[in-house]
Amino acid sequence: MMRACVESVESFTFKSDAIAPDKSISHRSAMFAVLAEGESRIENFLRAEDTLNTLKIVGHLGAKIHDDGSVITITSNGIQESSEILDCGNSGTGMRLFCGLLSSAEGHFVLTGDEYLKRRPMKRVTQPLRNIGAKLDGRADGDLAPLSIRGASLKAFTYESKIASAQVKSAMILAALRSDGVCTYFEPELSRDHTERMLKGMGARIEVEGLTTKIWPLEATLSPLNIRVPADPSSAFFFAVAAAITPNSTAVLEGVTLNPTRIEAFKVLERMGADITYTVTDERYEPIGTITVKSAPLKAVVVEENISWLIDELPALSIAMACATGKSIIKNAEELRVKESDRIKTVVDNLNLCGITTEEYPDGYAVNGGILSKACVNSYGDHRIAMSFLVAGLRCGMEVEDIECINTSFPNFFDLLGQCTKVVR
Ligand code: S3P
Repeated sequence: MMRACVESVESFTFKSDAIAPDKSISHRSAMFAVLAEGESRIENFLRAEDTLNTLKIVGHLGAKIHDDGSVITITSNGIQESSEILDCGNSGTGMRLFCGLLSSAEGHFVLTGDEYLKRRPMKRVTQPLRNIGAKLDGRADGDLAPLSIRGASLKAFTYESKIASAQVKSAMILAALRSDGVCTYFEPELSRDHTERMLKGMGARIEVEGLTTKIWPLEATLSPLNIRVPADPSSAFFFAVAAAITPNSTAVLEGVTLNPTRIEAFKVLERMGADITYTVTDERYEPIGTITVKSAPLKAVVVEENISWLIDELPALSIAMACATGKSIIKNAEELRVKESDRIKTVVDNLNLCGITTEEYPDGYAVNGGILSKACVNSYGDHRIAMSFLVAGLRCGMEVEDIECINTSFPNFFDLLGQCTKVVR
C-alpha cells in the first residue's frame, strides 16, 4: 500500500492547462461512439483507470479503436456480443451507463468491477430497465455486480426517478434511444447533463424542459462525435481549495468545462469568501474556460441545495469548511454514503483525526472550522478522499495512506501538487 506525505506551505501560485480531462465526458465519448456511424474523434481523453476500462470494454464490444497517443478514434460496427467479462474496475458511471447501453443490444454480456464497485447499489438502474423489458440480473436480485444482461426489446416509458442521478438518467436515455416509442424521464433535481448535450450534438432528438427529459427513439444512426474533452472541474476543484485555504495563493485552472451543473462547488467556495473569476474561452457541447481562485479568509456555509451539482466535490469542500470560521453544514447528501466510499463516514473520521470536530447526520455532516493538524489518514480506497486530505496538508502537513486509487481519475495529480508544495512518496 503506497502512502504520500505533503508539507505545509506559506503561499503558492499555480497555473495549469494540464488538469485531468473530464471523467464523465470521457466515459460518455467512448460509449456514445458505439452508437454512431463513422469515425468518432476524441482528443484529450482521460487516460485514467476508470475511463481506460470503459474504452477497453468498447473495444470488446467490437468497435475499432485507434490511439495515436493524442487523438483516439473509434469506429463502431454496431454492438457485438463479447466473449470477455466486461470489467468496469472502480467505476459506477461505467457500469450503470453500460447497463442502459447493453439492455437492448443483441447478445449476452457480463459486467463486473473491483471490490468497491461490487458493493455499490445497481438496482437504481437495473430495476427501471427491467420494468421496460430489459433482462438484467445480478447478486441480491440484480442490485450487486457481477451483472448479466441479455439484450431484449425495450418498451417506451415514463419514469419518475426518486434520486437526482446523472448515471440513472443517462442509462435510461440510452435505453430510450432504442425503445419502441417516445420516453419521458423526470428527476427531482437537475443532475449533470453531458449525456443530453452530447447525444443532441450527435443528432438524437432529446428535449429538456425543467426537470423533464423527453427522448425519441433513434430513426437513424447518430453522427460521429468530434470532441476535445475539457478539464474536469471536479479535479480542478482540489487546486481551487488548495488556493482558497493557503494565504496569498492563486490557482489558475485552464480549459475547464464551465457547465453550470458542474461548477456549483466553486460557487459555494465563493460564498465562503474565496475570490473566484470565470472566463469563457471556448464552446464545444458546453462552455469551456479558465477559473481563477485567490485565497481569502473563509467563513462557514450551509450546503443543502443542488447537491447533485457538487456531490463529487463535497470531500474537498469539507477541507475548506475545516479552515473556515464557524460551523458549516451539509444536508440532503445521503448519496455520499454510496460513492467510492461512504464519504460521510470517511470525511468525518479523517477530519476528526486532524483535530476538527464534526457532527454526523444520516444525510450529511457539520464541520466546525478550526485549526487542522497533521495526521496520518487513510483514503479507504477512495480517490477523492485521498486527494482532499493531501490538499489539507498544504495547511498543516499530512500523511495519506492507500493512494493508488488516485489513478482512477487523476494520474498526474502528484505532478501538479508538486508545483504547490513538497510531496514525498
Ligand atoms: C456521474 C454522476 C454522478 C457522479 C459521478 C459521475 C456521471 O453520480 O457522482 O462521479 O458521470 O454521470 P450519480 O449519477 O450517482 O449522482
